[in-house]
Amino acid sequence: MARTKTRKKVQYAEFSNCFDADSRQWRGRWHEHFGNNNPIVLELGCGQAELSYALAKQYPEVNFIGVDVKHVRMWHAAGRALEEGVQNIAFLHIHLLWLAEYFADHEVSELWITFPDPFPKNKHAKHRMINPNFLSVYRRILKTEGTVIFKTDSRELFLYALEIFVREKNIRMMELSFDLHNNAPHIHADFKTLTQYEKMFMAEEKPINLVQFAFSE
Ligand SMILES: C[S@@+](CC[C@H](N)C(=O)[O-])C[C@H]1O[C@@H](n2cnc3c(N)ncnc32)[C@H](O)[C@@H]1O
Repeated sequence: MARTKTRKKVQYAEFSNCFDADSRQWRGRWHEHFGNNNPIVLELGCGQAELSYALAKQYPEVNFIGVDVKHVRMWHAAGRALEEGVQNIAFLHIHLLWLAEYFADHEVSELWITFPDPFPKNKHAKHRMINPNFLSVYRRILKTEGTVIFKTDSRELFLYALEIFVREKNIRMMELSFDLHNNAPHIHADFKTLTQYEKMFMAEEKPINLVQFAFSE
């Protein structure tokens, strides 16, 4: 088991589509890695990056970067992308706290955050991927017209996020659903792309919450 993990770590470091904490030189220059000026979409806390992978195949004219603090989770998707020649996806192994060191102001067109750990205890609120500190970083790296798509099975986390949006004042919600798969036919099919986590929560009959929002000036 430990040996498998070590092998994945070594391979991650060798894969040409994988980046680590020492990749700050790509800040503001990710388009050079991809070899085009196509929009850049980040999936934060991507885990196995199932969402980014599916969207990257569907939208070859968009560049996707999965970001996760655990690179072993991204290893499979990274290897598969190389094998299948999916060139518009990359992986970045960092903690979200350092995001602004890897992406320049307004470099990113869209952010996805799906099924992050809910961190239910208030004393752990600083780890929630939607909190005032992280929002200020997202605002900084997103293009003016850029949006964040946030999905969770945790109603508590979702309500926490909505309370923050009210307090932040300059957040504009564009889509909102408390039951994405049963009561939101108007919401775009891309937002309903399923990962293992989402399938598991749906099997438990948990309603999926979704919000798409943008930062106003
Ligand atoms: C519950 S999984 C969800 C995976 C994926 N978004 C999905 O829907 O299938 C949460 C992921 O977020 C990552 N994560 C948690 N905190 C993080 C942080 N501060 N920075 C980067 N990744 C983080 C974890 O390593 C884990 O892979």
